[in-house]
Amino acid sequence: MSKSAELAAIVQARAGTEAPRFGLILGSGLGHLAEEIEGVAIPYADLPGFPHAGVSGHNPKLVIGTLEGVRVAVFGGRVHYYEHGNPAEMRLPLELLKELGCESLLLTNAAGSLRPDIPMGDLMLLSDHIAFAGANPLIGEPTDARFVPMTDAHDTEIRAGLRAAAEAEGVALPEGVYCWFSGPSFETPAEIRAARILGADAVGMSTVPEIILARFLGLRAAAVSVITNMGAGLSAENISHEHTKAMAPLGAAKLERVLRRYLRSL
Ligand code: HPA
Repeated sequence: MSKSAELAAIVQARAGTEAPRFGLILGSGLGHLAEEIEGVAIPYADLPGFPHAGVSGHNPKLVIGTLEGVRVAVFGGRVHYYEHGNPAEMRLPLELLKELGCESLLLTNAAGSLRPDIPMGDLMLLSDHIAFAGANPLIGEPTDARFVPMTDAHDTEIRAGLRAAAEAEGVALPEGVYCWFSGPSFETPAEIRAARILGADAVGMSTVPEIILARFLGLRAAAVSVITNMGAGLSAENISHEHTKAMAPLGAAKLERVLRRYLRSL
């Protein structure tokens, strides 16, 4: 039995066999939504081989249940490339989703904005990304399936649904390009200027490996950033992980409204 099939058996024994319609991965400071799902919570520690999300501000458990009447599988935290240097660390959680019969994935993250018109506390929907970290979670994958096309990697239908939900909620949801830096150090002002020239609208340390893995596994995927700061050098504020965690709730409330409205529309 594959590792993901073993995990799926554990999850289904506790939470039932109905397939989740959406997987949700919650980013830094956004783990609170996992508390609002009516369902079964499974600590990552109960899932053998599951990557340990060791960053403060995450909520390391999988919750299977319903949100706005839709069956969801919510990952309260993720593991980042900068924790172990392995960009494929989220492969098992995503394989588990697939094994559970889930077909769609929504990723969330905290990010720094490169655009004055997308200020702190606002949201940005990813239209595309730049894998500037240079790593790829499919390096070493031995089959031709590794040659994953990345055109429309950010699912157009999910994005349209999210934009409509945001509009109905009166929440601004501009689309933009997310540039993935490895972290864990924040970017320099020169790197931020370079990212802007490359066509990025926001920067962050996650999400891109998961988008690549999702496409590899045949999951439809989209991602929303909660802007917690302006990129380095673009404002006078200090950039820190503490600041990210403190600012994430500002945008998280908007994100939750958009997400709930979107789920209701399905
Ligand atoms: N850079 C990278 N990651 C981030 C930032 C940032 O400015 N803010 C929140 N996550």
